This record gives sequence, structure tokens and C-alpha cells, in this order.
Amino acid sequence: MNAVVRPPKRPRGLRRLLHACVAPKVFDFWASRLDRTWTWERPLARIVDRRVESRDAVTLVLKPNRHWRGFRAGQHLNVSARIDGAAVTRSYSLSDAPRDDGRVAITVKRIEGGKLSAHLFERACVGDVLDVGPAFGEMTWPQADAGAWLFLAAGSGITPLMALVREHAARGMPAPLTLMYWARTREELCFADELLALADAHKDFTVHCILTREADDTAPTGRLDAAQLSSLVADVAQRRVYACGPRGFVETARALVAPQARSFHAEAFTPPTQDFNDVGEAVVTLQRSGRTLTVPRGQSLLSALEAQGIKPASGCRMGICNTCACGKSAGATRDLNTGEVRTEPASALRLCISAAAGDIEIDL
Ligand code: FES
Repeated sequence: MNAVVRPPKRPRGLRRLLHACVAPKVFDFWASRLDRTWTWERPLARIVDRRVESRDAVTLVLKPNRHWRGFRAGQHLNVSARIDGAAVTRSYSLSDAPRDDGRVAITVKRIEGGKLSAHLFERACVGDVLDVGPAFGEMTWPQADAGAWLFLAAGSGITPLMALVREHAARGMPAPLTLMYWARTREELCFADELLALADAHKDFTVHCILTREADDTAPTGRLDAAQLSSLVADVAQRRVYACGPRGFVETARALVAPQARSFHAEAFTPPTQDFNDVGEAVVTLQRSGRTLTVPRGQSLLSALEAQGIKPASGCRMGICNTCACGKSAGATRDLNTGEVRTEPASALRLCISAAAGDIEIDL
């Protein structure tokens, strides 16, 4: 199964002529009377199937229109829907490998207080149309994937790793792969039957489903630690490792596994929470709108601006999708992932993982 990433389409012939006569928004308005996914250039996807995966997760199978450019297993995309009259956007991981029929799947876990996840879990149904953004993310199979792999997944972190497992299985599991997958309870495990069936079918694939809040005679229990890791994976030093889950889990995995593994790459799906002891306030000048605001130092600029009624474009809220990127022309900001303070002018800034470290000017 090959990854499918298509180049952008250029207007040609009739399309170029139409473009000169009809504004894309006007075209979209009339075309949507015939089919809600027909647009001039806007990527949309129709929900064509829905499967319950666990107590609090559902898989939505989507059929994107021709403007969506494809993806590689392990990537994510931004999904938007209108809820109570406002567009809400969040990032979700694609949980299946690329398919010949162009359908894609996202697995959505209902998050407490999460507007879009509740909408997709409880109300979205077959036939609904969603806005979708381009795929993004680096946690994909490398061109040369020789050598043994270890995947560490906690909670929703299973989703992109499941796409990678499925792609690996479709190729016949060409390299040994062990998956350690933590969920709080058995009811919250996604894909458990499929994973166990794949492990039965492929001797080079091993799966350990581990519960953290439920005693179970048939499964290991407890959070990731050195004893658990060494008891389940004897050869970490030979492994390349992908880890995905909440930030605390990813940081534990990084501290424990990265020093001994062949390579380590992680993606956390919760925003950075480190406290760098930045106190006080800073003045943020929004150059395009001409507004000046006072925000707390140390708080992500995205959250600080939203708290004042400004809604910059955003998606993943963890520094991966680049949707919130904007220019900074002056001032110092702190990268909330690394703690680094950046003072260079005329630089790009991701609002969700940057905080004002002093007065700043940004291109909003
Ligand atoms: S919202 Fe995705 S990088 Fe900021």
C-alpha cells in the first residue's frame, strides 16, 4: 500500500475560463445545491461510515473531495465543523493507511468539555460534510525501515500508530514491531481485537495492551516504568521508537526510552504545560488590526488572545500543524516546549506553543 500525496491542481482550460468569470465562493454556493462536497478548491469530506471503537471513541470514515491532497500513515489533519453557529477546528489522527478508494478514517475520542469531539462522537452521522485541512506530521514510515521498531501509545496516541501498524501489516510486517498500548480500562481500548488478530497472524508483531486503572488477570497493568519496559521488551537498544500520547506520558517515555533506543521520535497531543516561572504581563501589538493587548507572560499566546475574544486560526494546539503560525516583527517570546527564549525579529511564531517573554509585535 503506497502513500498517496497529490500535488495541488492548477486551473486549466474551461476551469481557467470559469475562474475568470465566477468567484470561487459563488461557484461553491451553487455547486453545493447539487452536491455538498462540490467546491472550487475547498477541501471537504463526507462521512460515509461510522464505527464505535470503544466506550468513548468512534471511527468516522470520510470520503474527501478531489481538492484534498492525500496523506501518509501516521499523519494528522485538521477537521472543522460549525457548532452553535461558529466554526470549531481540531486536529485528529488518521487511523487507517491510505486506501485505493480514497476513503480515510479518523478515530475521535470524546474529550470532556471538547466541543468538536462531543459533536463528532455524539451527533455527526453518515452524510454530514466536514471541512478538512491538509495532512501534516512527521511520524511516518521512513523510506528504509529496516531494523526493529517499538511503538508506545497511550490513550488516543494509538490512533496514528494504528495507521502505521495497518500499513506495516499490509506490507507483510517486513520488520519486527512491538506495540505497547496503555488505556485506563479495557472498555477504553480501541482496535484491541484487530491488534490481537494481527499479532496471531504475524510472528514479528507483538502487542501488549496495558491497563492503568483496572486490575485484569489477562493483561499487564500499571504505567510505563523501567521494570515494565524491561520485562516486556528485552532489546530496546536495538529498536527505533515512536511514542504518542498525552504530554506527561511522552515525557516519561522520552526520559526512559530515548537514552537507550536506536532512535526516538514522539508526538504529544496535549499542549505544553511546563512552568518557566514567567510572571507579570506583556503588551502585544497586533499590527494588522491595530489593537494593543496586555497578556500574562508564560501563557500561550493562542490561549491569551482567545481569552480576550480574538480567535486566530488554530488546529492541533500543540505545535504540529502550523495553522496558528504568524509573523513576529519585534520582541521576545518563549517556546513553551523547549523553554528557549527567541528574540530574533521578523521570525515565524506558532501561537499555541509560544508565550510573550516581553512586549511583542505580531502580524495579526
Ligand atoms: S494550532 Fe497547530 S501549530 Fe498551533
